[in-house]
Amino acid sequence: MPMRFLDEMDISGKRLLVRVDYNVPLKDGVITDDTRITASLPTLELALSKGASLVLCSHLGKAKGAFDPKFSLAPAAKRLSELLGRPVAFAPDCVGPEAVKMAAALKPGEVLMLENLRFHAGEEKGDPAFAAELAKLGEIYVNDAFGTAHRPHASVSGVPAVMAACCGGLLLKKEWEFLGTALEAPTRPYVAVTGGAKVSSKLAVLKHLLGKVDSLIIGGAMANTFLKAQGLEVGKSLVEDNLLDEARSILAVAVEKSVRIALPVDFVISMDAGKPLGEMTSAGVCDATAVPAEAVALDVGPKTGALFAEVLSPAKTVVWNGPMGAFENPAFAAGTMGVAKVLAGLDAVTVIGGGDTDAAVHASGLASKMSFISTGGGASLEFMEGKELPAFKALREYGK
Ligand code: 3PG
Repeated sequence: MPMRFLDEMDISGKRLLVRVDYNVPLKDGVITDDTRITASLPTLELALSKGASLVLCSHLGKAKGAFDPKFSLAPAAKRLSELLGRPVAFAPDCVGPEAVKMAAALKPGEVLMLENLRFHAGEEKGDPAFAAELAKLGEIYVNDAFGTAHRPHASVSGVPAVMAACCGGLLLKKEWEFLGTALEAPTRPYVAVTGGAKVSSKLAVLKHLLGKVDSLIIGGAMANTFLKAQGLEVGKSLVEDNLLDEARSILAVAVEKSVRIALPVDFVISMDAGKPLGEMTSAGVCDATAVPAEAVALDVGPKTGALFAEVLSPAKTVVWNGPMGAFENPAFAAGTMGVAKVLAGLDAVTVIGGGDTDAAVHASGLASKMSFISTGGGASLEFMEGKELPAFKALREYGK
């Protein structure tokens, strides 16, 4: 069954149960980043303009199956009301008689937000009985929660199985088009930029990318493991010694598949090993072949920046997941900002995935120059591993 999306559905006068991902950061009850709420607006506005009414459900934080006021979605409902410019009613529980009554009373153009799904243990367990309770709240199920697409939870996998009709929202569609279609059938040359602290969290992505890309750039602390695997000394830099063989095998597969691998040739180092990142200062630049025993590599150096720019210059498709260094400290941000600048100047489809990379691109001021920035952290990583995510699987299986 092909997946269907909201813009293909007849929704006029219908009550939609929309799974959104409003798992937003909060400080003292105030939302500090509303990107995920604004990302859902195209779906909600399209549905409202077609005369639908909306029942929205989401999780927030790591609520453990019971009510916990610090994980209430009430601040998200308030912010959504400001952004939509219309009232958003709030149901104090996501299931039960009151939620059913409030949902049934909605008129076209009205919006109801439900309290946190994870206040019920059935959500994370994927409990069919909990899914059936949720399904009572709408006539058509819409999944627009890409950030949660990798979780086989009741509101993701269970509800579409029991509702009369289901489809993906416009955000899910956009993520599918960029992370799915654009990267599965890329315009070539296709270059992947990978980074971040650990090879272990990116192993599956690296292996999947090797079968797809023309060139693979490896930066960030995870590059240290590859350099050590090639016999270089990396001082006190972060290394995963248990993955040296795995790193060698990735390098060997790259040779087999004629994928060009680009690793750092120089670093910005610090001699402040053991100190918190914010207190570490730069001790200058050194070649990757001459890292002092007491040094920590915290960013790629200028020669590496030039090398990475050269590898990227012919690219027509680029995916970037993981920063090039500890960019949270400005002394070690140049490598990551340099990659953002190179991508911004390319005539290519540029797809950004992962929370840290998203933050780095926003910090660079170049977010609007990228073709697409995914709203998923874990979800975009699992997508890039080539897995079928539970949200898409459910929409494909139960799409009707
Ligand atoms: C996220 O922030 O990555 C999603 O909202 C999923 O949240 P979770 O990791 O708590 O399942």
